[in-house]
Amino acid sequence: MTDKGKNSPISRYKKIISISNDLASTLDLDILLKRIVKAAAELTEAEAASILLYDERLERLYFQVASQYDDPLLRGLEVPVKDSIAGWIVKNRQPIIIHDAKQDERHYEQVGQSLGISIESLLGVPLIAKDKASGALEAINKREGLFSSTDQEALMTLGAQAAVAIENSRLFQQFDLISEFVHELRTPLASLRTATHLLTHPEITNEKREQLASNIQRETIRLAEMSTDFLSVARLESGRSQFQVDDFDLSDLLNECFQLIIDQAEESGLFCNIEITDDLPNLKGDRDKLKQALLNLLSNAIKYSHEGGKVLLKAEALPRQILISVSDTGIGIPQKYVHRLFSKFFRVPGSERLAQGTGLGLSIAKRIIEGHGGDIEVESEVDVGTTFTIRLPVTP
Ligand SMILES: Nc1ncnc2c1ncn2[C@@H]1O[C@H](COP(=O)(O)OP(=O)(O)OP(=O)(O)O)[C@@H](O)[C@H]1O
Ligand SMILES: [Mg+2]
Repeated sequence: MTDKGKNSPISRYKKIISISNDLASTLDLDILLKRIVKAAAELTEAEAASILLYDERLERLYFQVASQYDDPLLRGLEVPVKDSIAGWIVKNRQPIIIHDAKQDERHYEQVGQSLGISIESLLGVPLIAKDKASGALEAINKREGLFSSTDQEALMTLGAQAAVAIENSRLFQQFDLISEFVHELRTPLASLRTATHLLTHPEITNEKREQLASNIQRETIRLAEMSTDFLSVARLESGRSQFQVDDFDLSDLLNECFQLIIDQAEESGLFCNIEITDDLPNLKGDRDKLKQALLNLLSNAIKYSHEGGKVLLKAEALPRQILISVSDTGIGIPQKYVHRLFSKFFRVPGSERLAQGTGLGLSIAKRIIEGHGGDIEVESEVDVGTTFTIRLPVTP
C-alpha cells in the first residue's frame, strides 16, 4: 500500500484531523451534524451518510440528517431501537459492516424509502462520548467494492470526535436555554410574590384585591405561555421534535389564522386584511407548527403597531413555491437590530414598554419554516412598517 493515494492511511489521517478541527469550531448542532455526515461519506467513499441520535432517558432513537438526501421534514423521525441497525449499534456499542442491507432482518426500511435511497451496503459506528452512547453514524452504499476494516477504523475515529462535539453542543444549548429561562422567570415570579404578599394584608380594599387577583392571573398565564415556548425551542433545537406531516389546504389555514387574530387586532384599533390568490396549492407539512409560526408573525404585527394602523396577510403561489407575507404599518425595526431578530430572546430595546413578550416567537418561527425547507425574511423601516416574508417550497 502506498501513502500517496487519495485515500491512503496518511491522507485519511490528515482528513480526520482537519475534520476534527472543523467540528470543534461550531456549537450549532445543525451545522455540526451536516458537517459530520458530509465528512463520513467522503472518508469512507460512500454515496451518503446519516446520523441518528439516541435519547438515553426515553430510550428512543431519532433520525437527524443524511448527506446528499437532506429532507428537513424527516428530522426527528423516530426509528425503532429494537428493529433497526442503528438501534443495534447503539445498544451493542459496536461497529457493524453489512454488505447486503436488504437481507438483514434488522434493516429498518422507512428512512431510506422516505429519502429515496436504496440502501445496499452499510457501515455503522456508535457515537460514544463520556461513556454515553449518543447515537449512530452510518455510511451508506460504498461506491466501489466493499466497506473494509480500514473504512471502519476511519469512521470509528471520526465517530469519536463527532460524539464529543455533539455532546458539547447539546450541553451548551441546554445551559444557554436554562440560564435564559431562569432569567426570564424572574420578572413574572417577582410580580406574583408581590401580589400574593399584598393580598395577605387584611386592610386592602376590595377593588385593590380584585386588581391583584387579575395581576396574578395575568402573570400565571404568561408563565404558562413562556413554558410552552421554552419547550418548543428546546424540542426544535435538540432534533427531537418530529414534524407531523400532512397534506393540507393552505388557504384554509391562512383564513383560520386570520380569524384568530382579527378580534385582538380590532380591539387594538387596527384594520386587518387578508389577500390570498385562489390558486394556492395544498401544502405538505406540519399544519399546527406552521400555524404557530404564522400566528406569531400576526401577533407581532398587532403588538408592534399603533392605533389606526393596518395589518395585511398575503399569500400567492409562484412556480414551485409559495410566498406568504405579513405586513404592518407599525413602529418598524431599526436596521441595526434586523440581523438579531431571529435570535432567541432578542427583543428590540424598548419593546417591553409596548407589549409583553419573551423574544422567542421569531426564533421558533424561523426553525419551523426552515424545518419545512423554506426561509423567512424581513424588511422594515422605522415608523413606516414591517413585512415578514415566508417562502415555502411546494413539491408537485
Ligand atoms: N412586526 C414587528 N414590528 C416591529 N418590531 C417587531 C415586529 N416583529 C417583531 N419585532 C421585534 O422583534 C422582537 C422579537 O420578536 P419575537 O416574536 O421573537 O418576540 P416577542 O414578540 O417579543 O415575544 P414572543 O416570544 O411572545 O413572541 C420583538 O420583541 C420586537 O422588538
Ligand atoms: Mg412575538
